[in-house]
Amino acid sequence: MGAQLVDRFGRIATDLRISLTDRCNLRCSYCMPPEGLPWLPSPDVLTDDEVVRLTGVAIRLLGVREVRFTGGEPLIRRGLVDIVRRTSQLDPRPEISLTTNGIGLTRLAGPLREAGLDRINVSLDSLSTETFRELTRRDRWTDVVDGLAAAEGAGLTPVKVNAVLMRGVNETEAPDLLAWCLERGYELRFIEQMPLDAHHRWSRSVMVTADEILERLRERFDLTPADPRQRGSAPAESFLVDGGPARVGIIASVTRPFCGDCDRVRLTADGQVRNCLFAREESDLRGALRAGADDADLARRWRAAVATKQPGHGIDDPTFLQPTRPMSAIGG
Ligand code: 5AD
Ligand code: SF4
Repeated sequence: MGAQLVDRFGRIATDLRISLTDRCNLRCSYCMPPEGLPWLPSPDVLTDDEVVRLTGVAIRLLGVREVRFTGGEPLIRRGLVDIVRRTSQLDPRPEISLTTNGIGLTRLAGPLREAGLDRINVSLDSLSTETFRELTRRDRWTDVVDGLAAAEGAGLTPVKVNAVLMRGVNETEAPDLLAWCLERGYELRFIEQMPLDAHHRWSRSVMVTADEILERLRERFDLTPADPRQRGSAPAESFLVDGGPARVGIIASVTRPFCGDCDRVRLTADGQVRNCLFAREESDLRGALRAGADDADLARRWRAAVATKQPGHGIDDPTFLQPTRPMSAIGG
């Protein structure tokens, strides 16, 4: 292995998040406008071979140990199962996970598991079909819930559920969501809403904070912080529910940033390295790849891209500027 992906602050990126498409079959209001977004032109999107090639460089030459596929919605990428299979054949074999909205999992959970997928995170923000439809602008609640059951059935366990709470929409659902997940053995994590929406409407004063989520949960559950030494670079703060072993996680990206422990690096669907969700700059690997760069050259470019990573996201700085690309184009 060559030199790892290290930045000026000594952080080492070992967790690679790859967006496989910027498209999605939902329109979550904290992410996209109802009409969708101008999607990446197909020729710009990395092919399956290119994705596997770059992943191989990250694994063999750069010390990456975990690969997470995201989107947009990764289940709508035609080659997904094959990409997962080929990723699982890399040496050393990385941990492979997927973040998805769950639509299509009834069909794909089994094949993905068989191809080598280790873990899955499914987004579900509401237990009400009505609220789900309002929030995602699509009537697909049942597909998601069936998809979750399929993931459990396929052994993609523990199934993790991600929820984002929005003021005036689903903010009161926190305890209900937790009870629902506990009943089914799913591990729930709440994610603070971040300024990554395409229409730049996020506001700190409206955001539902981690403290507020905990307060709402504590009206019904006894929560005790799980051993913080187990947290490592995981962004979720974990709490034991009613004495454990069940847990709930809170990802307080905004109010309790964990940038100092960040071990992530991102690759967009069009082959750009982003050293942070909130980075203002990207480094083009696709161009170099298509111009015939060898693996060592790609690795060198990748290292240079990570070296300039900023110490933090700076959401609280008065000079903070939201990245031009929305979450769906960066990957979660
Ligand atoms: N803030 C927080 N979480 C978000 N997600 C998408 N957009 C945002 C945002 N602006 C979540 C999705 C999914 C994961 C990829 O990130 O709900 O669970
Ligand atoms: Fe799609 Fe995820 Fe964005 Fe919702 S948050 S519109 S599921 S990419």
